[in-house]
Amino acid sequence: MVAQVIDGKAFAAKVRAQVADQVAKLKEENGITPGLAVVLVGEDPASQVYVRSKGKMTVEVGMNSYEHKLDAETSEEDLLALIDKLNNDPSVHGILVQLPLPKHLNEDLVINSIDPAKDVDGFHISNVGLLGTGQKSMVPCTPLGCLMMLRDHHGSLSGMDAVVIGRSNIVGKPMAQLLLGDSCTVTIAHSRTKDLPDVVRRADIVVAAVGRPEMVPGDWIKEGATVIDVGINRIERDGKNKLVGDVDYASAAERAGAITPVPGGVGPMTIACLLANTLTACCRANSLPEPEGLTA
Ligand code: GUN
Repeated sequence: MVAQVIDGKAFAAKVRAQVADQVAKLKEENGITPGLAVVLVGEDPASQVYVRSKGKMTVEVGMNSYEHKLDAETSEEDLLALIDKLNNDPSVHGILVQLPLPKHLNEDLVINSIDPAKDVDGFHISNVGLLGTGQKSMVPCTPLGCLMMLRDHHGSLSGMDAVVIGRSNIVGKPMAQLLLGDSCTVTIAHSRTKDLPDVVRRADIVVAAVGRPEMVPGDWIKEGATVIDVGINRIERDGKNKLVGDVDYASAAERAGAITPVPGGVGPMTIACLLANTLTACCRANSLPEPEGLTA
């Protein structure tokens, strides 16, 4: 079998276009412009690239983008004061504090100081609990993007065997909750899982989110399975820098029914879902109906 390639770049563009349509409607009918505040502490180069890209796309869909760049030595007190200000600013509907934070700042404390209704990352402990109990919440962007692609490809996921490889709070755990919410039978596998190849071989859906380049070979993939590769790993091959996923794409594509490439798969969906979450937060804040197809 030669896998269908799930084009995340095209899908993300479609999601952003949907968001832009809804934003235009909100402005015209309600006089409201959704606003996203992004807070970056320090000068981590990768974070700077992400934040610039987020800001650009926020403006492209017609939202207001507020960027707060703080120096690496910013005190916890000052950061918490900024978050408090953003929590109380009615023009800000979404707040994202770029991670990782410099070591002297307590990440959990900072994230949990964001108003859960504005927590467009879905990292606040209240949102984690709401998702875990199947209640309305803000859902982490990367797993939400994966879920959207899976629903688009399969329609219903009910009864499917899903394996999530990786147990991070940002991807693995929320991904498992979302798949359970869509009535999959879910296994969370990780570095200590016994017989990982056999666990993966049972899966109709494989979500790989471990951050280890090409660790899932094609012969672990069940014939016809759908493979969602969350990994973005920089490696050097043949003297060149290359981006690869957590799945060995070439061999997996020979067995899978559908697969996301790296780059151009899950990656572009993350920012698209951040914009979708900001729109959702704005609609909720104004007691307006939520956008269809953009939430879990
Ligand atoms: N750093 C890397 N990915 C993310 C993300 O999704 N959200 C935040 N806040 N920081 C990140």
